[in-house]
Amino acid sequence: MLLLHFQTPRLNWLFLIKRYKSTKFEIKPEVLATLDEGYAKLRSSNSNSLLKKHLTPEIFKSLRTKTTKSSTLLDCIQSGLANHDSKCGVYAPDAEAYTIFADLFDPIIQDYHCGFKKTDKHPYPNFGNPCVFGDLDPFKHYIASTRIRCARSIRGYPFNPGMTKKHYDDVEDMIHCTLSKMGDEFKGVLHPLFGMKKSIQRKLINDHFLFKPGDRFLEAANACRYWPTGRSIYHNFDKTFLVWCNEEDHIRMISMQRGGNLGEVFSRLLRGIRGMEANIPFEYHDRLGYLNFCPTNLGTAIRASVHIRIPKLASDKTKFEQIAKKYKLQIRGTHGEHTDAEDGLYDISNKRRIGLTEYQIVRGFCKAISEIIQLEKAEKGKTTSKNSK
Ligand code: ARG
Repeated sequence: MLLLHFQTPRLNWLFLIKRYKSTKFEIKPEVLATLDEGYAKLRSSNSNSLLKKHLTPEIFKSLRTKTTKSSTLLDCIQSGLANHDSKCGVYAPDAEAYTIFADLFDPIIQDYHCGFKKTDKHPYPNFGNPCVFGDLDPFKHYIASTRIRCARSIRGYPFNPGMTKKHYDDVEDMIHCTLSKMGDEFKGVLHPLFGMKKSIQRKLINDHFLFKPGDRFLEAANACRYWPTGRSIYHNFDKTFLVWCNEEDHIRMISMQRGGNLGEVFSRLLRGIRGMEANIPFEYHDRLGYLNFCPTNLGTAIRASVHIRIPKLASDKTKFEQIAKKYKLQIRGTHGEHTDAEDGLYDISNKRRIGLTEYQIVRGFCKAISEIIQLEKAEKGKTTSKNSK
């Protein structure tokens, strides 16, 4: 009896140690060799990525052999090593990477998010009253459509590179099940990519509803495994609220509509987020806010954008870039990231997503777009008065 008492806890300990050992990640020599080779090539390249800028030889040396429970430095930087034209070049393979590889992520976060320092703390979520934002372009002269999207990861699930086929299916089911319980304005259809007709896929992409497959930055980050398993798009019947499942992040919620009514778009997004978070726990970090795969999507993970035509301002590239810098905006092409503007239609959004509340981000964006429209009007006025002289 005494022996038994003595032995049981000891056995438990052995069991726990074994478990701990089996969950600890062993870094393989091939991984180190690939890292060294890739890093040397990056250093001698003319890449302008934040990865190249901030992964100094000292930081590389100190992080080279570090691991989280399931990832290495290579998992964080392989996309930037394979794509020297990356703007950022890093992804967090799991939530823990933001802590273990903080010496790399923190300066990149500070640089991308306009000065959010490693000693700064993201404020608690606060959407304010979204109805205060009205229509940015009531006469419909400039803005074709308005969109706000928000990225979320599900607590307890690995990010893309660590997901199994089952994880992908589970996440898709969880999202679909939650949406089916939400209010009438969210009732709609789920389109799984698996077996989707090419014509439907093309239409959804052209209408700016669906993500494009074959993103080489994500592929190199090992984020497209088992594609198209678990990848789908859900939209309400009005096509004003959309959810992307398992693209770059587990969840992307999107509120969008034609014209410039930012208040309506933001209010709907908030109702959508509330409905989803009532059933799904999101990954939240005390200092960094909502955590997602790419360090460009932390904090609020909110991206507010308009599709806008401002031919006068856009014709002067330097001025256009100066304006974007001044208002902390990002300019993309008509079909989003890494695309060109077609027919003078630009996608303009907030760049910074962390360090401000949701309300502050949307308010800043609203002010910036209103001022841009005023500037465009003023430029137009100049040419009309010149012509009438
Ligand atoms: N990894 C890509 C790059 O560095 C995309 C970065 C931001 N965009 C994104 N969808 N996470 O250019």
